[in-house]
Amino acid sequence: MSYNVKLFFDDDHEAEITCEADEDIITAALRQGLILMSECREGVCATCKCFLADGEYGALLPHSVYALTPSDEEEGFVLGCRLRPTSDLELEFDYPFTMVQQYVETERRGRLLEVAMVSETVARVVVQTMGAQDVLRYLPGQFVRLTLENGVSRDFSMANVCDDSRQLEFYIRVYPDGKFSSYISRDACVGEAINVHGPLGSFILRGNDHTPVFIVGGTGLAPVLAMLRDMAANQPDRHAVLIFGNTNVGDVFGVELLEGLGKQLPNLKVLYGVINPDESWTGDVGTATAVAERFISATDRSQFEYYYCGPPKMIEATTEMLEAAGVARELRHHEDFVPSKLEESNG
Ligand SMILES: Cc1cc2nc3c(=O)[nH]c(=O)nc-3n(C[C@H](O)[C@H](O)[C@H](O)COP(=O)(O)OP(=O)(O)OC[C@H]3O[C@@H](n4cnc5c(N)ncnc54)[C@H](O)[C@@H]3O)c2cc1C
Ligand code: FES
Repeated sequence: MSYNVKLFFDDDHEAEITCEADEDIITAALRQGLILMSECREGVCATCKCFLADGEYGALLPHSVYALTPSDEEEGFVLGCRLRPTSDLELEFDYPFTMVQQYVETERRGRLLEVAMVSETVARVVVQTMGAQDVLRYLPGQFVRLTLENGVSRDFSMANVCDDSRQLEFYIRVYPDGKFSSYISRDACVGEAINVHGPLGSFILRGNDHTPVFIVGGTGLAPVLAMLRDMAANQPDRHAVLIFGNTNVGDVFGVELLEGLGKQLPNLKVLYGVINPDESWTGDVGTATAVAERFISATDRSQFEYYYCGPPKMIEATTEMLEAAGVARELRHHEDFVPSKLEESNG
């Protein structure tokens, strides 16, 4: 069963999509080329909150009461990522259509071009998509789903900006028993086929005057590298802060790359933190969240907007820290590197 859903934006623009009875609005819109504002797609962040002007739905899928309170729902607000229609709908969004990025999500064939360890635990991987297909167009901060020949699929964020080279650069944390990461870093051969599905996600830099504060753990740096590279090309004078945390000194990667970007972005401030320093370490000590907390509390943060990315525990800790610091929800954006559930991984 499929329903028509009319989308109304606050610049008077309208769009129309169809949504299956077993599909949520955000997924349905993505399938039809529209990236509605969303972050977690799990009912936690409230980014997809909108007003139901007309239509019916069953109970919303599980969500946090912090994202949508019962009284919000009584007033007519819903979460697009948690709503499955039971009739045609009309939804109102409090942002302009210009914020809705359009793209076409597709499958591409690719091949492994380069693999190199860039720290004790991180591999730099380059995949090139085939020349016979059109170039994969994506926004800095988005990710793709890579599938190996053996069927194992995982999500990875591009660290480079989109260009005509067809190359996608990834930084992948190597887990000793990681079905994807240990294979690609140790056993895969250059030239091997890899399927690329995407682009996916809406962890993208907002086009406003705020100073982005990027808080990243480990390979959470990847999507932020793409954003910084884009800033270097298009907004070189923009102020930005990067707080890059790792567990051990041997995990740290990308230092030279960040130094190079620092020359192109003179107003970029970079702070490093590790949890377990050794005698060679000259950066801060502590998690990315702890380093960020110290920095924020000692700085005028009125112009800051926060983008954070990394493993679930780091995302949780950073969300708590920013909430405790009184940072409004609309100034917080994150990408959670949720581990694949093994039962869903084909691996
Ligand atoms: C939107 C998105 C973007 C992502 N982008 C990146 C990226 O750019 N770079 C990157 O390295 N990863 C990224 N990830 C994570 C990635 O998709 C895989 O989950 C990760 O690489 C582990 O896959 P694997 O097959 O190597 O390990 P699996 O075989 O899935 O797991 C092997 C072992 O490692 C453990 N493990 C897996 N992930 C974690 C974790 N985060 N913390 C602690 N233990 C873990 C598992 O519990 C298991 O014991 C992203 C995830 C998402 C959802
Ligand atoms: S609550 Fe819907 S995207 Fe986060």
